[in-house]
Amino acid sequence: MKIYANLKCNHSRKSFENYAEILDQDLKSSFNTHEIVVFPPSSAFSELKFSFRQGAQNFYPTLNGNFTGEIGLEMLEEFDIKDVIIGHSERRILGENDEFLKHKFDFAKEKGLNIIFCIGESDVVYMNGSSKEFLKSQLKELDLEYKNLTIAYEPIWAIGSGKSASPEYIDEILDFLRTLSSAPLLYGGSVNLGNIAEISSIKNCNGVLVGSASFEVENFIKLIREIE
Ligand code: 13P
Repeated sequence: MKIYANLKCNHSRKSFENYAEILDQDLKSSFNTHEIVVFPPSSAFSELKFSFRQGAQNFYPTLNGNFTGEIGLEMLEEFDIKDVIIGHSERRILGENDEFLKHKFDFAKEKGLNIIFCIGESDVVYMNGSSKEFLKSQLKELDLEYKNLTIAYEPIWAIGSGKSASPEYIDEILDFLRTLSSAPLLYGGSVNLGNIAEISSIKNCNGVLVGSASFEVENFIKLIREIE
């Protein structure tokens, strides 16, 4: 299982040092068979090597250059970062549109990065029953057979709400996404200790992208244990 932690805008360099050390120790001393990737804020990237991978929540599709406030591939490479999230709804809401996301996707693909491409519908789209059409449109023009692609289905209405989508609904959507791509599929949106076992046992579910429930390392470790 892929168990990915998106720490969002949480953790200083110091507190992530502590997080990483505790997680690393735990993974080393347990019989962990899962693929763990943690996405800290970029100011907290560590140069140390761990038994999990560090990934980037965001990047600008450039090696370097005149892009104030952004970080490019050169900065990711310094930390040996190969996993990048693209298309998270919390970035789309800031103005990253499909065209720009395709540009990011193509850049990351050209560089051979592991792309975690996030898609997800709003509550309005969900309520009017056009989720599948909408999700398909979010994937259009992307190379869905790119070998290092993972697609994360994160319904916006479930993110940070404390209430995940139902297993039946996740199953239906992942089934649909499987008809579009053979990439690994993740579910994200209020994954927690109470639902991770059931969600991760869904047929086409290859893992989870966890937000809030991963912010505290002890809780993230419990989540990993829950599906051992
Ligand atoms: P929550 O787990 O807090 O709902 O966040 C999910 C998410 O956005 C992961 O990318």
